[in-house]
Amino acid sequence: MTTETNMNEQPEVEICFGPECGERGGYKLAEDLATAGIETSIGDCRNQCPNACLAFVNNKMVVKATVERVQAKIKELQASS
Ligand code: FES
Repeated sequence: MTTETNMNEQPEVEICFGPECGERGGYKLAEDLATAGIETSIGDCRNQCPNACLAFVNNKMVVKATVERVQAKIKELQASS
């Protein structure tokens, strides 16, 4: 496997579907990321509800997550890998 291949791999993206995050944009965020071609998994509440909606990219927290913020975190992690 080459370094270039590693850089293009999508990190794991988890979206909180807990009660607060789900209602405050988590469900929509997961849909919008899917539309943008980013696979996500469903996460549970992590007691970070005031920072809803919450996402994790390779277990790195993204607070008040948006498509743009998640994409930026993915790029940041790919650049540092
Ligand atoms: S509902 Fe997402 S952190 Fe609590």
